[in-house]
Amino acid sequence: MAYAPKDYTKLIGMEGFSQTLLNNHFTLYQGYVTNTNKLMDSLSAMLKDGKTTAPEYAELKRRFGWEFNGMRLHEYYFENLGGKGAMDKAGALAKKLAQAFGSYEAWEQDFKAAGAMRGIGWVILYQDDASGNLCNTWINEHDTGHLAGCRPVLIMDVFEHAFMIDYGLKRADYITAFFKNINWKAAEGRL
Ligand SMILES: [Fe+2]
Repeated sequence: MAYAPKDYTKLIGMEGFSQTLLNNHFTLYQGYVTNTNKLMDSLSAMLKDGKTTAPEYAELKRRFGWEFNGMRLHEYYFENLGGKGAMDKAGALAKKLAQAFGSYEAWEQDFKAAGAMRGIGWVILYQDDASGNLCNTWINEHDTGHLAGCRPVLIMDVFEHAFMIDYGLKRADYITAFFKNINWKAAEGRL
């Protein structure tokens, strides 16, 4: 079954995100959806044709995580944006964050610090399904560093395409804008 790109144009108009930046980001996301579908088709054709020992098969298999996660992580990211209000400090997510980090403020400091690290990738607040614990994780590119069995709760894109058009090298300013637009209800709903 082929994946269809989702429409996130409702995010246009968010404070701190230009239309140009968002449109570029949507186009990039759509490319990951296209490539995920292409890879699934190619791999399935190679399986049917008995070509699974070919080096091309192995390389496409390896690449699948890159394209699939490039698609899915952008969906999580766009879906946890577009919020207007502050986090409900009496809600389930606030309580879990305080449990895991000592306070909401300590969590925010750690999440932002991970986002400010040199390198391209993602910051993910994960919930471990086995223990219920929350932790902030750096994901290099799309496909390296994910925690097995953990559920993404809040995702921030820190690839340069996510901010350079609007902020140049000022990544901290982008992170501030990201925080102003978090859809906390969407994040809390993932717990
Ligand atoms: Fe991105």
